[in-house]
Order: sequence, then structure tokens, then C-alpha cells
Amino acid sequence: MQKQILLILRNYSKIPYTLKGRKKASQEWLVRQFKDPYVEKAKKENFRCRSSFKLLEINEKHKILTYGCTVLDIGCAPGSWSQVCIRAVNSDGFDKTKPKGIVIGLDRLPIYPLEGVTFFGNTDFTTNEAKMKILKTLNGAKVNCVLSDMAPNATGIRSLDQEQIMNLAHEVFNFAKEVSAEKASLLVKVWDNGEVGKFVNMLREHYETCKHVKPNASRSDSAELFILAKGFKGLQKIKHHM
Ligand SMILES: C[S@@+](CC[C@H](N)C(=O)[O-])C[C@H]1O[C@@H](n2cnc3c(N)ncnc32)[C@H](O)[C@@H]1O
Repeated sequence: MQKQILLILRNYSKIPYTLKGRKKASQEWLVRQFKDPYVEKAKKENFRCRSSFKLLEINEKHKILTYGCTVLDIGCAPGSWSQVCIRAVNSDGFDKTKPKGIVIGLDRLPIYPLEGVTFFGNTDFTTNEAKMKILKTLNGAKVNCVLSDMAPNATGIRSLDQEQIMNLAHEVFNFAKEVSAEKASLLVKVWDNGEVGKFVNMLREHYETCKHVKPNASRSDSAELFILAKGFKGLQKIKHHM
């Protein structure tokens, strides 16, 4: 116990030095990083950031990334979900006669290259250009798993931020319908708000199952939550309501 306290104190003793001259929000962020076990774990396991553990946890439970599958990772920078994806779709121990999987990542920020992954950095998903880049790369192939960890830059105006993240979620869903293979999955980040229920109901028309998931690695004080839809029914099977 004493050893543990000493260790914590040693870690905290680094904090004041690093915090000097920073704004309050930045200080709070740093303190949280120091205390966060996933930050340390990500470093040890060579992941670009702690978010990797959210996807690892979801995949462990829901098996959305399988050997050989094609994945689209939207809002992928700095690339830790893509790292999880490429490991999963190309991991050994499976039937090596099957072709390896494909991972395509896109972000409006620049992205440092990652072996095996096709990245489109500096590309805003809401533009036509972004969709054309993805479609060209797919070259007619269908996607088995669409991921979106996109979040808009928060303005602090709650209603505006929520509207923006829901707009992104709808845009991802519309594109997923266009590119997904039958039985494909969709994982989309949203912020918990009144609009989420309507979104889930809409997804249920197109996917066999749809639920909320909140992995342990997702901070409990964050409104972030993921919508996981599985078993895409295919466009032709969707009933149109007149
Ligand atoms: C939480 S981060 C993603 C972290 C990533 N999943 C990982 O594990 O490395 C959210 C990302 O969404 C991106 N983003 C937000 N809006 C976007 C948009 N319209 N088009 C493309 N990327 C967007 C941001 O630039 C940011 O890099």
C-alpha cells in the first residue's frame, strides 16, 4: 500500500512542472492523462492513443472485426483504431489461404502512415471529395465494417454541438448504406442526447440489431457513447414507408 502511494506521489510530482504556464483546461487534460491507466497501456502496447482500447473492448465482445474483412475508419487520426483494425483483419492463426483484409482510414487532420492501411488525411468526410476517394479505393468492393469515431470541435454550446455530431452520424449512416456488404456492421460515436433514440430506431430498420455501447475505456464523465448496429440488411430489403 505504502509502495503504491509512493508511486502515485512520484507521478503527481511530475505534474506541476508540466503544468506551468498552461491554461486551466489544458492543465485539467494533462492531470487526467497522468492519472489515466489507458494512456500508459497505450504507450506500452505501441498504440497511437488510448482510444484503441475502446475498439479493442467492443470488438472483444461483439466481434465486428474479423480476418479478411474490409473496414472503413472515418475520423481515424491519429490512427489507433486503424492499428486495431489492421491487426485484427490480418492477424495470423486463421485461414491463410484467404485474402488479407483492407483498412481505409480518413480524417480532416493529417495522419502519419501505417503499414497496410490506406489513409486519406486532410480530407473532410462531409465533402464529396472524401466519398469519391473512398469509392475509388474500394473499386466496387463492399465494406464489412464502418467505424466512425468522429467528433466535431466542441463549441461549448450544447445544442449546437449535439446537432453537429448527429449530422455527422447521419452522414456516416447514409454512406454506410451505400458501401456496406450484407451483414456488415456500423459503429458510430455520438454524444448522449435526446436525438440518439431516433437515430437508433432508424438504424433498426436497416440492421438486424442496434444497441448503445459504452466501453470501460470511454471516460465515465464523458457524454460519449457508441451506437453499434450489426447485420446490415442490404438496401433492396428495406421497406419504404409511404
Ligand atoms: C476522437 S478522434 C479519433 C481517434 C481515432 N479513432 C483513433 O483511435 O486514433 C476524432 C477525429 O474525428 C475527426 N473528424 C471530426 N470531424 C471530421 C470530419 N468532418 N471529417 C473527417 N474527420 C473528422 C477529427 O479530426 C479527429 O481526428
